[in-house]
Amino acid sequence: MLGDDSLAKQPAFNDSKWRKLDLPHDWSIEGSFNEKNPTTPGEGGLPAGIGWYRKTFKVPSASKNKNIFIDFDGVYRNSEVWINGHYLGKRPNGYISFSYDLTPYLNFGDKDNVIAVKVDNSDQPNSRWYSGSGIYRNVWLTTVNKTCFTKWFTFITTPQITNNNATLHISTTITHSDNNLSLKTTIYNEKGEVTASDLSAIKGTNDTATIAYNLNIKNPQLWSVDHPYLYKVSLQIVQVDKVLDNIAVNTGIRSFEFDAQKGFSLNGISMKIKGVCMHHDLGALGAAINTRAIERQLQILKDMGCNAIRTSHNPPAPEFLDLCDKMGFLVMDEAFDMWAKKKTKHNYHEDWALWHKRDLEDQILRDRNHPSVFIWSIGNEIREQFDSSGITIARELVKIVKNIDNTRPVTSALSESDPKKNFIYQSGALDLVGLNYHQEVYADFPKNYPNQKFIATETMSALETRGFYDTPTDTTRHWPQSSKIPFKQGNSEFAVTAYDDVTAYWGSTHEETWKIIKKYDFLSGLFIWTGFDYIGEPTPYPWPARSSYFGIVDLAGFPKDVYYMYQSEWTNKPVLHLLPHWNWKSGQLIDVWAYYSQADEVELFLNGRSLGVKTKHNDDLHVSWKVKFEPGTLKIVSRKNGKIVLIEEEHTAGAPAKIELLADRRSINADGKDLSFITVKVLDANGNMVPDADNLVNFKITGAAQIAGTDNGSQISMESFKTNHRKAFHGMCLLIAKAKKSRGTAIVYAQANGLQSASLALNLK
Ligand code: GAL
Repeated sequence: MLGDDSLAKQPAFNDSKWRKLDLPHDWSIEGSFNEKNPTTPGEGGLPAGIGWYRKTFKVPSASKNKNIFIDFDGVYRNSEVWINGHYLGKRPNGYISFSYDLTPYLNFGDKDNVIAVKVDNSDQPNSRWYSGSGIYRNVWLTTVNKTCFTKWFTFITTPQITNNNATLHISTTITHSDNNLSLKTTIYNEKGEVTASDLSAIKGTNDTATIAYNLNIKNPQLWSVDHPYLYKVSLQIVQVDKVLDNIAVNTGIRSFEFDAQKGFSLNGISMKIKGVCMHHDLGALGAAINTRAIERQLQILKDMGCNAIRTSHNPPAPEFLDLCDKMGFLVMDEAFDMWAKKKTKHNYHEDWALWHKRDLEDQILRDRNHPSVFIWSIGNEIREQFDSSGITIARELVKIVKNIDNTRPVTSALSESDPKKNFIYQSGALDLVGLNYHQEVYADFPKNYPNQKFIATETMSALETRGFYDTPTDTTRHWPQSSKIPFKQGNSEFAVTAYDDVTAYWGSTHEETWKIIKKYDFLSGLFIWTGFDYIGEPTPYPWPARSSYFGIVDLAGFPKDVYYMYQSEWTNKPVLHLLPHWNWKSGQLIDVWAYYSQADEVELFLNGRSLGVKTKHNDDLHVSWKVKFEPGTLKIVSRKNGKIVLIEEEHTAGAPAKIELLADRRSINADGKDLSFITVKVLDANGNMVPDADNLVNFKITGAAQIAGTDNGSQISMESFKTNHRKAFHGMCLLIAKAKKSRGTAIVYAQANGLQSASLALNLK
């Protein structure tokens, strides 16, 4: 229920009129955009407020001698939980996972139990980006025997790795009251074969016991970003032939090093960290986590060649880390965007004193088994870097981290680049100096920070709107120009050109900083701000701008042009990408850019006439021509050793004539969760995408799927994400279809006035 009713915590409360819904759930994303919402445009201008959730459930009598917990992966924010009217507690932090022991308060057998959760996101603003509101991550009811593994207290490390042997160090904590217990360990490889095992007696009969031991894996397969090999470590507490508890932990065998001269290496092989920063929203789905939606984001980034993610500026959903382990991403797992000093009015600084220790401990305990996690960050652009309290707090936080995990370096994303003025740096507690922006000082880093290891924790803040182009492109513009000059430039579309030549004043173009990172070995890599556009922080425009312009990929998941610059640099596949579209006024002088790789040269043709061959020189990352527009076909050919590698064409499009639907997956699981992301294109009669088409497209799905959201990547659209229609934006929009729980077929229909409709069948398996 949206709103507040303190009686809702009572089991007998009548909730029959409440809406029934499935978790995870984010109520903000269902709301309407409004500049006046207390969240402010910085959080996307969607509503927040207070909400209550209740669930009635039965617990079988057979569970009477068990311990029963409720585990929340994350609730934004200030959650309070009651079971059968008993208050279990409050958790202010919106990004942390937490549990309550329900055992003493439960009814068994036929009698109902009622969990009531109050979520209070009403104190606003409390974030610098879209947070979402509600129980937006998964919730689990966990039933265990009295003898069980203590949650989060199993820790697996790999202290020694050689070519033919890896030593796994396993430490686990058990709560027990039984005799004759053994701990059985079995390690499986990806084929499901046993690669190591152990059985040892658990000594003592009471309370908690911590057991630590080593196991060897012969000829180990190493985990890396290109070969994310996982072993499964299965632990069982066994009494004679009864298994009392079991857990399974995925482990990757990998080693890595940061070096003050040589930069980063994984398993002894030097590599650049090619990372992006990501906020947690999933575009039209809001903050409500969906594993397929996260996987799609990661696939799009992987195809670009990205190998690392910074979870800016908070701990992620557990599913995100599982996917990074499986798909091969390194993760910089960040704790905080502020400490005791605030950035917005009702930030976490209000909870800092009481909660920071517990929150940080819980983050490290929860995430430390993930091979993907390779850096802990204790904070982003923390205000305390500017005064001596930064020294004390940084030392305290690093100590908290190291007490729980000393296998990974700790950094903080600093914004003060002068080492003498930066108190967090002065604390001496950081293993790795993380600097946001200030690419102009990178070259001097070894001089200014002698023998320090370096990572560019946040870079670029370049701005783009997909499909929008301003030409010429001869200068780089800063929007806004400085902190003192109000933003007056811009255009009536509230758009930013997609040529990589506009940035926030504290940032740089994509090309500028990537060239510097490439140049120096001691720069271990970077995290670009950002991989995807996110809701909120609509720099540089005011309302109705409500989502960010920083993404390499737009909010709907459609790549902007610069995506292909990275793909040409970060992958080994041949790339050829031409921009802009080819619909202009006759005689207009247009800058034509091309990104390419795996070729010696490219040649541009307009209506069959060559406009010249070009080659990237020195550290060039693109080539360009100035072309007087005439309608027709702009074609580019890349060649290596005289042989054609790739050909790309842009055609002048005519009037919108038809709709095209392209599903990323036509066959999805009938599990009530799986998604098909359907790209909708407005085409002319010849099948060319119409680059300025903004037709309103209406959707209908019949059968075994339903509409989960629509989007088009526009940063200023006031259309709700949850409607069954969406205007095309620069020729495209997105429909997200969600599986119901029954197998069969779903038919997706798209219709727009004056256009030939389209439909597509999905198979629900
Ligand atoms: C950084 C900050 C990010 C984001 C970005 C926008 O300073 O760490 O959270 O606000 O600026 O450019």
